[in-house]
Amino acid sequence: MSSQTNTNPLALPITLALSKGRIFDETLPLLAAAGIEVSENPETSRKLIIGTSNPMVRLIIVRASDVPTYVEYGAADLGIAGKDVLIEHASDHPGGLYQPIDLNIARCKLCVAVRKGFDYSSAVKQGARLRVATKYVNAAREHFAAKGVYVDLIKLYGSMELAPLVGLADAIVDLVSTGNTLKANDLVAVEDIVEISSRLIVNRASLKTRHAELQPLLDAFEQASRSHA
Ligand code: ATP
Ligand code: PRP
Ligand code: MG
Repeated sequence: MSSQTNTNPLALPITLALSKGRIFDETLPLLAAAGIEVSENPETSRKLIIGTSNPMVRLIIVRASDVPTYVEYGAADLGIAGKDVLIEHASDHPGGLYQPIDLNIARCKLCVAVRKGFDYSSAVKQGARLRVATKYVNAAREHFAAKGVYVDLIKLYGSMELAPLVGLADAIVDLVSTGNTLKANDLVAVEDIVEISSRLIVNRASLKTRHAELQPLLDAFEQASRSHA
């Protein structure tokens, strides 16, 4: 990177938006592969803007579902977000983001799950109207519409697995990785909707105006992500 780094002291650093937790943890090795060390740990620091060993690259720490918004409006040049988050964002803001690289990190599946013993396929065959609780209302609406299943969607912001246990919903649409959370709550996955991994996203204006600075970083991410494939 260094040979192409902008050395103008007035130039703004390239800003990468990330959420803390699994995406931050899994991005560290990708940054390291691009020669970038992060100066602080967002789990222990309260800082939301974090510098790196490259003075022309900084990180901002935001909620996972806010990453596309920061990138779309240009407050960040780059971001890393799960495909689940990007599907929801794209339904409301079509065409706003360029998604050049599947980083192959934070892999899981978006699934439909029900309580053990709930006869999902009979309910669907009989044309029952299902109550479905989820954070992913756009993905869920599209999935059930494509199957011709009538659903009442109930928007939640987390702990979806609880909803069928307390009678709030017949089914949930949520992420599944090891399956441990479903198992611990006596739920079973009955349909896979889409495979999820995290993507690098790029602000469309930055891609044009800062192309020379961004390209080496994109190349390094691309190369490092292949080792996760
Ligand atoms: P918040 O805590 O702000 O509500 P969140 O729960 O979406 O956000 P994370 O749990 O860090 O935040 O998830 C970030 C991304 O990681 C998700 O958008 C998804 O793409 C992926 N992800 C979520 N859960 C898992 C999991 N169990 N295994 C692998 N990847 C996951
Ligand atoms: C995510 C997701 C599921 C769980 C699935 O929750 O929302 O609940 O992981 O993973 P598993 O199949 O390996 O059990 P997360 O750990 O992010 O907790 P959260 O409720 O704080 O988002
Ligand atoms: Mg989570």
